[in-house]
Amino acid sequence: MIKVLINGCNGKMGQEVSKAVFQTPDIEVLCGVDRIDTGDNTFPVFTDIENINLIPDVIIDFSLPVATFNILKFAEKHKIPTVIATTGFSDDEIKEIENYSHSFPIFRSANMSYEINLMARIVDELAKKLPDSDIEIVETHHNRKVDSPSGTALLLADSINNALNNTMEYEYNRHEKHEKRKKNEIGIHSIRGGNEVGKHSVIFFGNDESLTITHNVNSRAVFANGSVKAALFVVHKDAGLYNMNDMF
Ligand SMILES: NC(=O)c1ccc[n+]([C@@H]2O[C@H](COP(=O)([O-])OP(=O)(O)OC[C@H]3O[C@@H](n4cnc5c(N)ncnc54)[C@H](O)[C@@H]3O)[C@@H](O)[C@H]2O)c1
Repeated sequence: MIKVLINGCNGKMGQEVSKAVFQTPDIEVLCGVDRIDTGDNTFPVFTDIENINLIPDVIIDFSLPVATFNILKFAEKHKIPTVIATTGFSDDEIKEIENYSHSFPIFRSANMSYEINLMARIVDELAKKLPDSDIEIVETHHNRKVDSPSGTALLLADSINNALNNTMEYEYNRHEKHEKRKKNEIGIHSIRGGNEVGKHSVIFFGNDESLTITHNVNSRAVFANGSVKAALFVVHKDAGLYNMNDMF
């Protein structure tokens, strides 16, 4: 039986992950880590990483960047394969995660849905086939989300940018400027409200026509199930950085 530690176990996603683990054979929750212990979990919860006295086989992290780095120190000490689903990292923090992956396996994806990762491949192809289009990304999430744009919007933008030989610039804040959009820009727009779990559209504007690809998630279970699959994938891997493309 593979034993998992859930970092951010009392968050919306942490709770979904514990349900997903419960429904998956050959894996169980050993313990959780969170700022708050609600007392509602069926597994021990540590509010201070220094007090963890159980060593899991794998870690699943849905928390905040600061909490991710706390758990990475613990993971490095014990060489525990780790799935990072948290978003909102700076470029320097992403490099730091890469450095950690030299000493133990890390799986990181800003979106644990297979279909979003398929969408990334499709928009990459479309960007190459529609080189004259103006590309805009619109993402919508619930009103509690702290980072913007979403990690997934950046994942989609990076996929398009790679396909176009990294020639694109990202524009997040057009309203402060009084100038026309540039040809080599990807506009990225964030909408926040209600309970929206996550919606991403990539729009390719041509002359007199446009093509929109949209992905919509109705349940957090999609991400939780994806993260459990990632944990089962990474648990026996060698040190290195893995993502959804390695898994599928
Ligand atoms: N990769 C994906 O597919 C995917 C999908 C959904 C959400 N996310 C990301 O996962 C993260 C969590 O999302 P959520 O909706 O569950 O948020 P949430 O706010 O409901 O949960 C975050 C949890 O982390 C805990 N936490 C905060 N600081 C901590 C610390 N220092 N130590 C330990 N625990 C701490 C909080 O108490 C909370 O329980 C976000 O970054 C979100 O963008 C990723």
